[in-house]
Amino acid sequence: MDEPELSDSAYDVLYRELTALESAHPELVRPDSPTKRVGGKVLDKFAKIKHRVPMLSLSNALSEDEFKAFDERAHRFLDATDSAVLEYYTELKFDGLSVNLTYESGELVNAATRGDGETGEDVTQNVRTIRSVPLRLKTRKPPELIEIRGEVVLPVEAFEKLNEEQAKKGLKLFANPRNAAAGAIRQLDPKIAAERPLSAFWYGMGQVQGVRFETMQEYQDRLIEWGFRVGEFRQVCEGPGPVLKFYRKIEAQRKKLPYEIDGVVVKLNRLAEIDRAGYVSRSPRGMIAFKYPPTQGTTTVEDIIVQVGRTGALTPVAIVSPVRLGGATVRRATLHNQDEIDRKDIRIGDQVLIQRAGDVIPEVVSVVLESRTGKEKKYHLPDHCPVCDSPVERKPGEAVLRCVSRNCVAQLKERMRHFVMKDALNVEGMGEKNVEALVDAGLVKHYADLFRLKQEDFLQIEGFAEKSSIKLLESLEAARNPELYRLIFGLGIRHVGERTAKILANHFGDIVSLFKVAEAEFEEIHEIGPEVAGSLHDYFADPQSLAELKEVLKFVKPAPPKRGAGAGKLAGKTFVLTGTFPTLSRSDATKLVEDHGGKVSSSVSKKTDFVVAGEEAGSKLEKAQQLGVKVLEEAELLKLLS
Ligand code: IVH
Repeated sequence: MDEPELSDSAYDVLYRELTALESAHPELVRPDSPTKRVGGKVLDKFAKIKHRVPMLSLSNALSEDEFKAFDERAHRFLDATDSAVLEYYTELKFDGLSVNLTYESGELVNAATRGDGETGEDVTQNVRTIRSVPLRLKTRKPPELIEIRGEVVLPVEAFEKLNEEQAKKGLKLFANPRNAAAGAIRQLDPKIAAERPLSAFWYGMGQVQGVRFETMQEYQDRLIEWGFRVGEFRQVCEGPGPVLKFYRKIEAQRKKLPYEIDGVVVKLNRLAEIDRAGYVSRSPRGMIAFKYPPTQGTTTVEDIIVQVGRTGALTPVAIVSPVRLGGATVRRATLHNQDEIDRKDIRIGDQVLIQRAGDVIPEVVSVVLESRTGKEKKYHLPDHCPVCDSPVERKPGEAVLRCVSRNCVAQLKERMRHFVMKDALNVEGMGEKNVEALVDAGLVKHYADLFRLKQEDFLQIEGFAEKSSIKLLESLEAARNPELYRLIFGLGIRHVGERTAKILANHFGDIVSLFKVAEAEFEEIHEIGPEVAGSLHDYFADPQSLAELKEVLKFVKPAPPKRGAGAGKLAGKTFVLTGTFPTLSRSDATKLVEDHGGKVSSSVSKKTDFVVAGEEAGSKLEKAQQLGVKVLEEAELLKLLS
């Protein structure tokens, strides 16, 4: 459908073959040849194109109530009774750059930016480089004239890569994919535009002659037939209820989409109804942009503080004036490390653009240089740990500064917090505050101390009652037989996340076997790279770490990985899970695959053996089909294991 039919490498081979043929036989070169996509002259400025039909904008709904008000208004404009259910067409609101394509007799004749809505810039050369724009409509009976409108976007991955390259070249970073896409489309040299992997989604129409459509759905289905890429999530909704459901569903998956969206667009599905509803201040009254709370905003850096992590890393954090972002109030944003502060030139007092994407920690994207007054203060991380005052060091090749002390209280608290967390030993009720109180009271200096705690220890700390201390003692007791990987993960070895911990647990089967493994041997394990191997080696070769672990093992008896009947049936197989399964939750399915020796990965590639697809499976399923990866339903997965 809207995915390429060929892999990029297959495309490249054919492309090269075609170029060779065309240079041998120039008389055979067709105007819609893909080689015409790239190339063209470097322009000194863009020509102007007047739109045949103005490119309008949309009114916004910024809350569910505002959306409901839109539905009520739509009833009024259409003279519909209150009980009438209007048919809406709901799709994604792509955060890119809007472009109009003009096709005459099926041939792409030009492409223009929106400009001021009346007149745009001629970006035909650059738009031709986008693979999802057909140079000729795939139909034998093209309409005389049709203007097709949509959004050019830069996928998030390409955006990040582009910014990495910009940084390497010492060039200014793009604040977001939209700006980067706009920059690419407005490149005067089409070769540079062609290097940016732009994509586009097509949804609307301008002037149309020689073809008629009844509904948005029919129109977009036709766009697909003609060779356009259309948003993968689009739905006809009977009334506002299903629209709200769609809006919430997309919000939940928003951060997993490979491109940015800033809302959904809700349109009356019947084109005649859109016409009938009319227009107000350059927006159709039969459509609305139903937006998500913004994830970027500007605020002021009030201060910069330093946090000390469990491995001693000093992380500078900006304390900012509170801003609402992505539905939450943000007061802090990470600055990562000194290099990042220097590269972005972030100073105390600066106005900054900050970003919060899903659950990740908000970060400072860039400084609003125009707002500088000259009173802003530069910042340098201290050369001593702000908590224990020990010296800090920076290892060659690393960007982070670390506190060198083993007895730093900040590190100890973070290590303990990690050790008891849900994904590690899962000591219920032992939150951050309790860990802090126990460390501050001097009761816990090593992991093993947790298991030596007695009720009277808790009672000497302010705020602990008999009941809560009994509960915590019970939780500690219950945490003494964790699965092996949880203990390995809980030790907080640098670079060893939950996934690596599982690989190690499955590979070695018990903790003692890990004590004497050489670095090279770690590296031989599939999926363990040199960095992780080095860090594991350092940990197990360190007498103090080892002594601490041995103390823990006096109390904690990890359960070996399950190797019951059927275990290992999926050994060496890689799975990707997508959609909602009829009976298993996502984490149950993951556990099931891993318990049988399989690996669960988050993205589909040629190396994927199976994609298990449930209801509402999206792009991963499409990718699997494209790559010819075997797709299973939940029942088929269960059958594999039985
Ligand atoms: S329909 C009258 N559908 O949002 C304009 N617009 O804020 C009809 N946009 O200028 C536009 N995704 O650039 C429509 N699925 C979508 C869209 C979309 C993004 C942009 C478009 C428009 C802006 C309005």
